[in-house]
Amino acid sequence: MSGTKEEDRKGSGGWQEYFWNPRTHELLGRTASSWGLILLFYLVFYLFLGSMFVLTMYVMLMTLDDYKPTWQDRLTTPGMMIRPKGQQLEISFSMRDTESWDGFASNLNSFLSPYNDSYQVQTNDNCVPDLFFIQEDSREVRNNPKRSCQFNRTLLQDCSGLSDRFYGYSQGKPCVLIKLNRVIGMLPGKDGQSPYVTCGAKREDSDNIGPLAYFPPNGTFNLMYYPYYGKKAQVNYTQPLVAVQFLNASLNVDLDVECKIWSNTLLEGSERDKFAGRVSFRLRINDK
Ligand SMILES: *[C@@H]1O[C@H](CO)[C@@H](O)[C@H](O)[C@H]1NC(C)=O
Ligand SMILES: *[C@@H]1O[C@H](CO)[C@@H](O)[C@H](O)[C@H]1NC(C)=O
Ligand SMILES: *[C@@H]1O[C@H](CO)[C@@H](O)[C@H](O)[C@H]1NC(C)=O
Ligand SMILES: *[C@@H]1O[C@H](CO)[C@@H](O)[C@H](O)[C@H]1NC(C)=O
Ligand SMILES: *[C@@H]1O[C@H](CO)[C@@H](O)[C@H](O)[C@H]1NC(C)=O
Repeated sequence: MSGTKEEDRKGSGGWQEYFWNPRTHELLGRTASSWGLILLFYLVFYLFLGSMFVLTMYVMLMTLDDYKPTWQDRLTTPGMMIRPKGQQLEISFSMRDTESWDGFASNLNSFLSPYNDSYQVQTNDNCVPDLFFIQEDSREVRNNPKRSCQFNRTLLQDCSGLSDRFYGYSQGKPCVLIKLNRVIGMLPGKDGQSPYVTCGAKREDSDNIGPLAYFPPNGTFNLMYYPYYGKKAQVNYTQPLVAVQFLNASLNVDLDVECKIWSNTLLEGSERDKFAGRVSFRLRINDK
């Protein structure tokens, strides 16, 4: 009995001694100088790691250019978008119900406001059509800010909202604006041939879509609006638009419309990327 008690005391004494040994002055089996060396080692180690990080960040930030991206996803063909967008890219309205298309018209009004001719004349240049508007930097000399070309709202003619302020919605001849997503440095065409947009119905809707009108004529994005140099370099850049007007689309049916870009340099969107160079939306015009 006394034997076990002694062993207990020895055991607990061993544990306490491991924590703090008064004879050798060791804490957890190490002397003060040993602990000091360990702390010093970690201090130096983390300072080294920290300075490595700061140095790498510094070098990287030094090489970044404010005006153009250092890396850019290689998009062979950009996506496209429509205005007005509606919910889920669905434009559905009734001709005679003003409230059903009022939102679309005011959406287009505010979208087109910076395209006013008067505003374009103030901010942008009257460029030579069918030529790229190249403004490269000459080596280290930055050519910033860069000018941009005028895209006059009147180019959209019947879809400009000027002659018909309801963009055809009140007559069941709705206008839809199409834009090509911006890609810095992209040259979407060559030999003076601008890329152009065509729209058509998917599947069995082809009898229902009726004739279409494109503005500007032939649905082109003129070459003079390219290349785009980025928001910071080209502050007043006005994205070119193509308007498509549905002149006699069938009423009271869902139309699945697809618009595509055609160009002699952009590749047609592959099966893998369904959004490259095209946009799909649903149109429904009700007559009451
Ligand atoms: C553009 O013109 C429209 C209609 O004429 C006007 O309501 C709008 O305020 C103008 N926007 C600018 C930015 O001048
Ligand atoms: C835009 O409109 C203004 C005023 O009507 C005109 O002076 C200018 O030449 C037009 N620009 C283009 C590119 O058509
Ligand atoms: C941008 O537009 C403003 C007027 O709104 C003009 O004063 C300025 O010169 C333009 N800047 C460039 C780079 O075109
Ligand atoms: C539209 O295209 C046709 C044939 O491709 C061409 O003859 C015509 O000049 C073009 N119109 C405009 C305004 O570019
Ligand atoms: C519009 O299309 C309908 C058939 O959907 C046709 O009967 C009608 O004649 C067309 N109207 C015009 C002005 O082309």
